[in-house]
Amino acid sequence: MRGIVTGVDYWDHFYDHEHPDIAAPTSFARFCADYLKESSLIYEIGSGNGRDALFFARQGMRVIGTDASEVAIDRLRNRADKFRYPPLWIARPMEELDNEYAGTVDAVYMRFVLHAVSANIASQGLAWAAHNLKPGGLLLVEARSVYGSLYGKGDLVERDAYWYDGHYRRFVRSEELTEELESLGFRCELLVESAGLAVHEGDDPVTIRVVARRQ
Ligand SMILES: C[S@@+](CC[C@H](N)C(=O)[O-])C[C@H]1O[C@@H](n2cnc3c(N)ncnc32)[C@H](O)[C@@H]1O
Repeated sequence: MRGIVTGVDYWDHFYDHEHPDIAAPTSFARFCADYLKESSLIYEIGSGNGRDALFFARQGMRVIGTDASEVAIDRLRNRADKFRYPPLWIARPMEELDNEYAGTVDAVYMRFVLHAVSANIASQGLAWAAHNLKPGGLLLVEARSVYGSLYGKGDLVERDAYWYDGHYRRFVRSEELTEELESLGFRCELLVESAGLAVHEGDDPVTIRVVARRQ
């Protein structure tokens, strides 16, 4: 069921081989680094090939990288990199995360994963973040906006969500996201909705960046 809802089969297949074009840390991770400190506990949801989690770990942060794709997480577990704090890799979808680190997490990082899951699963992930962040902790989100380049392409499967090229995407409405975050007890300190933030191979999607603080 989980594979049907979130398209995890697609991601297992995708991460079955290296993608040198997405090996470098994202511009969002570099942007977020200014908000984070050495030794902070960063909990990434949807860590993919680990490019951003590894970037944070190289900055001396304590990192937990989680993803629904067991293939992606297995590859990360087999890496030989040395870190001050070796990252902990967990193969688990956001709707099944446990609360082992509740109240100790400095930042929850979600890059391009909110739009990879249904609205219902996204809400579970955001509620998990609200519950597990320490007071004053940060939620850092980047996701495709409904104003983005691929919106409307492929088969509509639910509101704002399309299967396109074997790939599920649910485009996010910034006002709904901020409203949901505020209802969960976050204060949005930054909201940017723009093209030019996540350009990849000729695709320049309008993306939403949110920095929200748990009150
Ligand atoms: C577009 S990729 C982004 C990966 C990474 N954050 C990046 O920016 O390179 C979406 C990721 O979400 C993961 N994913 C899909 N459904 C998920 C779920 N229910 N819980 C956690 N991760 C999920 C996929 O396996 C994939 O790694």
